[in-house]
This record gives sequence, structure tokens and C-alpha cells, in this order.
Amino acid sequence: MSTPPSGARYDSGFYPMHLALLSVASNVLPVAWWTPVSKDPFRFLVAIDRKNHSLQLLRRCGEAALHFFPWSERERVIRAGYTSGRKRDKASRLGFALEPAVCLAETRVVRGADVVFELRVRREVDDGDDAGDHAPFLFDVVHVHRGTRPAMGAPLLFLGWRDFATLGERWRFRP
Ligand SMILES: Cc1cc2nc3c(=O)[nH]c(=O)nc-3n(C[C@H](O)[C@H](O)[C@H](O)COP(=O)(O)O)c2cc1C
Repeated sequence: MSTPPSGARYDSGFYPMHLALLSVASNVLPVAWWTPVSKDPFRFLVAIDRKNHSLQLLRRCGEAALHFFPWSERERVIRAGYTSGRKRDKASRLGFALEPAVCLAETRVVRGADVVFELRVRREVDDGDDAGDHAPFLFDVVHVHRGTRPAMGAPLLFLGWRDFATLGERWRFRP
């Protein structure tokens, strides 16, 4: 992997990020590096570390589900980021109940999330020689399970390293 000559060293000054739990087939992993990139069509971009077992699963099945869990579920969501599903059934070991998705063939949805976005891979964004340590995937949203809006409750925010928080003060801007 080559670094562009003008590139700066990684800096975590952009946190906090809203932590999601991604399911791919029957495996689960927390992801902080995700973002919406289009409203119409509705699309998300998610960056997957090339070392993760989920990368192979994603390339094989071409689908995933992005879940947002409340603060009260933080322990097992975060724990899913400290073990791999390569050799063991991580989801059931952590007590996640998996259910069939509405639009996805192989990927299952985890019960109890505030909101879930079912995703189908549109493209793996890869710059060949310039590829970074995470593989960015562009997804089409194919179904939304609407529940509690995380912004109205207690979302799980990742502050970087091993630190997490939820919302404190709220303020509505009135232009
Ligand atoms: C708070 C947190 C955020 C993470 N964010 C990402 C992420 O955005 N992308 C990613 O690929 N891995 C991320 N990880 C790491 C994976 O969740 C971790 O490597 C996981 O064990 C991979 O599981 P797998 O090998 O079963 O795919 C994160 C881990 C934690 C604890």
C-alpha cells in the first residue's frame, strides 16, 4: 500500500462517531467509520478493515445490515469488536438474536436495535495501488426498520480508543 506524498499521518481528532453494529451474513461487528452519502437514491458508505473476517463475507454475499443500538446495549455491541467471527459464532456467544431480513437473502438482522438499514453492495470503492487499510463499500439502502430515533434517545457514541459516551445537552437552532 502506498501513501500519497502529500498525505498527513492519521489523527483521531474527528471523533465522536455514532457507533453502529453491522451484520454480514450471520456475523456482527461494530463500525464507527460509516456515513450517508446520498438521499436519493439512499446510500451509505462503510469502511471495512482489510484484516476483518467480515470483509470476505461482504465480498461473497454482497449485503449487510447497519444497526443502531441504544446506550444500554453498549457492552455487547463493543465486545463484538474485540473478537472475530472467523472461527466462532460471535453473534450467539454475545447473546444477539438474529432474525431473517426483509430484502436480504443471507444477511440476518439483529433483534432489539433502535433502527436498522438493510444494505446491498453497489460497489467496493478501491483505488488499486492507492488502496488504504480499510476497504470502502458503497451501499444502496434497500429497506429501513424504523423504531426509536437514536437522536431522540441515548445513542452510542464512540470517542476513540476505548472511550464511549451518550448525548448530554440538546439545543435547537432557530435561524
Ligand atoms: C468502537 C469500535 C469501532 C470500530 N469501527 C470499525 C470500522 O468502522 N470498520 C471496521 O472494519 N472495523 C471496525 N472496528 C473493528 C471491528 O469491529 C473488529 O475488528 C471486529 O472484531 C471484526 O470482526 P470480524 O473479524 O468478525 O469481522 C471497530 C471496533 C470497535 C471496538
